[in-house]
Amino acid sequence: MSPLRSAIVAQIVSGLVVFVASASAVSAALDHPMLMAAAQGLLAAAIAAALRAPAWWLPIHLGFMPLVVVAGRLDIAPGWYLLAFLLTLAIFWRTDRSQVPLYLSNQRTAAAVATLLPAAPCRIIDLGSGDGSLLRQLAKVRPDCRFLGIEHAPLPWLWSRLTAARLANCEIKRGDFWRQPLDSFDVVYAFLSPAPMQALWLKTRTEMKPLSLLISNSFPIPGVTPENTLEVADRRQTNLFCYRPGGQ
Ligand SMILES: C[S@@+](CC[C@H](N)C(=O)[O-])C[C@H]1O[C@@H](n2cnc3c(N)ncnc32)[C@H](O)[C@@H]1O
Repeated sequence: MSPLRSAIVAQIVSGLVVFVASASAVSAALDHPMLMAAAQGLLAAAIAAALRAPAWWLPIHLGFMPLVVVAGRLDIAPGWYLLAFLLTLAIFWRTDRSQVPLYLSNQRTAAAVATLLPAAPCRIIDLGSGDGSLLRQLAKVRPDCRFLGIEHAPLPWLWSRLTAARLANCEIKRGDFWRQPLDSFDVVYAFLSPAPMQALWLKTRTEMKPLSLLISNSFPIPGVTPENTLEVADRRQTNLFCYRPGGQ
């Protein structure tokens, strides 16, 4: 079951159980809204754990209903919640489906990626280009190369498009990178998550040219030995895993 589905199931089932319990003999114990919210959160976390949801969902389940109770007491107009939801959606889009949230490559990593680019003019794509900061930095240090970023989340895409507008060698497209053919690129850069790495390997093996380079920030391809691994001297101790999928 997808993480979002199991979260919805856990919340609904635990909500129903606590609602029924509150109307029965134990109602006196659950009479306090915060107590009911805490009981619902505990039960939701237990159900999510039983459904093998990723560990980071458990604190979300524990805290969700208690936060709803606290927010209900703050007397905030409903429109603000809608705005917060729309903003979150515009920034993170369908992270529940892609399982790739937004976090950004830092400047040191971008500088390290620049050292991995071929000396001759070439084409580079960033799969899920976020706010475009990596591509902007690379496009400035390598004006002889052409850069393309593909991003599906509306707000990061809009921001990156506007901020890259003055760079003639940097294009940002809105779309799904799984639909983007990779055969015309010399370097493919990906900073994703562990979830799509196997599928990415299949795609890059099928589509990339024999000598083209795949650089994966932080997440190695399971079961595949990289051609080399570059350790970036940053606080995160970023690793850049380099592969030649088309040559495999
Ligand atoms: C971890 S961020 C990396 C951002 C940027 N590449 C960087 O290194 O700074 C991953 C990005 O991929 C985007 N993304 C995830 N799945 C995508 C898809 N199928 N198509 C396009 N963008 C996607 C996310 O919205 C997010 O902005």
